[in-house]
Amino acid sequence: MTKRILTTEGGALVIDNAHSQTAGAAGPTLLQDHYLLEKLARFNRERIPERVVHAVGSGAYGYFEVTNPDVPRWTKAKLFSSVGKRTRVFLRFSTVAGSKGAPDTVRDPRGFALKFYTEDGNWDIVGNNTPIFFLRDGIKFPDFIHSQKYDPYTNRQEPNNAWDFFSHTPEATHQFIWLHGDRGIPATLRHMDGFGSHTFLWVNADGEKFWVKFHFKTDQGIQCLTSEQAAAIGGKDHSFHHKDLYDAITRGEYPSWTFKVQIMPEADAAKYRFDPFDVTKVWPYKDYPLIPIGRLVLDRLPDNYFAETEQSAFDPGNMVPGVGPSPDRMLQARLFAYGDAQRYRLGINHTRLPVNAPQGVAGGARNYGRDGAMRFDDNGGREKNYQPNSHDGATPTGERYDVGIALSGHTGPQAHPRHVENDDFVQAGALYRVMKEDEQARLVQTLAGSLAQVSREDVSERSIGYFAQADEELGRKLQNAVAALRGAKEGAQ
Ligand code: HEM
Repeated sequence: MTKRILTTEGGALVIDNAHSQTAGAAGPTLLQDHYLLEKLARFNRERIPERVVHAVGSGAYGYFEVTNPDVPRWTKAKLFSSVGKRTRVFLRFSTVAGSKGAPDTVRDPRGFALKFYTEDGNWDIVGNNTPIFFLRDGIKFPDFIHSQKYDPYTNRQEPNNAWDFFSHTPEATHQFIWLHGDRGIPATLRHMDGFGSHTFLWVNADGEKFWVKFHFKTDQGIQCLTSEQAAAIGGKDHSFHHKDLYDAITRGEYPSWTFKVQIMPEADAAKYRFDPFDVTKVWPYKDYPLIPIGRLVLDRLPDNYFAETEQSAFDPGNMVPGVGPSPDRMLQARLFAYGDAQRYRLGINHTRLPVNAPQGVAGGARNYGRDGAMRFDDNGGREKNYQPNSHDGATPTGERYDVGIALSGHTGPQAHPRHVENDDFVQAGALYRVMKEDEQARLVQTLAGSLAQVSREDVSERSIGYFAQADEELGRKLQNAVAALRGAKEGAQ
């Protein structure tokens, strides 16, 4: 094998990678040492901004395989056209609140961001391991995240801030119960489900529309960690989940998920008992049963973490024909937020990076976007950069826009449309009541452990009040547990 010689960025052969150029053996370093300066300067520029949320993550490639011949009844999306059809995917798991280096085993939702490289372009389902979310309007998202991330003065996550925001946000009660229950800390990334969370629109080849929810049910079975187990593991190994995923795929134990959907005929939405576009709520299975449609398998690790996982960019706005957005206000805000975040985090040409490019589309992306920082491909070569043109350039299909929805009413900031069960607590209470007694007890302890750290009485009172509205017993037990913990703390002082 020929020996590979080290070069500078410009390709010049490097003669020494251990000694700088100096003025004599005992003298100072010389400015003319171009290799040294280049090496240091390059190192200084290694970091890019981390994701403003979901900064800690692990990614893997795999495929999706269709198992149900019925899917074309609901969507014309080509990836579902026949049983056995496979589409390549990239999936990134993440935690939400911590910055890079934070332990994997925290109590936090897990991101479940999936990119299908379809022949009609990338379809990104940027979901979580929870079927619901804390908020129902994207305008609250920056405040919510500020309350979860580091405090401007203490530079720590502060229970005071998280609970203060919660105590003004009753719609988060359902998700708070979910998160402080047993599923709040998955044992591994393989042993948890993924959800699209929002309601999406599907349209079939006849133009019929359906509202749809996406569920990825783990084939490994659900396994979780208790708070104590998670603290012990996280104290020893920050990258516990990341390592587990890498080890499993390296062993050839490819994790898989069964892709299931809930389908609601378009017209049902207006008469359903709650707003089906409210992401703080689930659709009960008895109303809309789960239908298995395929299998997702992760079978390959990225060769380079930074190039592929860190630079991966998922955007809920990336949809393919047959898929559209619903009027969910959280989803609507996200349709803007991701591409914008990525243009800042990675730059305008991030869509051209191999992990983000539409690998399933023959010939790749075709449009008249040009130039910009770090345009590293041929930039369209000699092709015209305007449309329409008389040079056989790419043109739109001209097909009818078929994922539009009928609307009425006035513009302006307004509360959600009223449905009978639009309240914040019905499903939160139901979730508490389906838990087994021992899980309920752990939930109370976990919530109380966090609430007991809150210094303002009104904040904890308001918060406990929400849990009591969800379930009277939960509220009472929580009140007692918080009082006991506070009493024990005072006794110890
Ligand atoms: C990441 C915004 C709600 C799941 C992000 C990022 C932003 C963001 C700016 C970083 C993107 C990047 O730099 O690549 C928002 C806003 C929301 C919202 C404004 C509400 C309006 C949600 C919800 C879910 C979710 C409801 C799940 C159902 C994720 C995931 C990631 C992420 C999984 C990480 C994607 C990756 O692995 O790269 N979010 N988010 N977000 N968000 Fe959201």
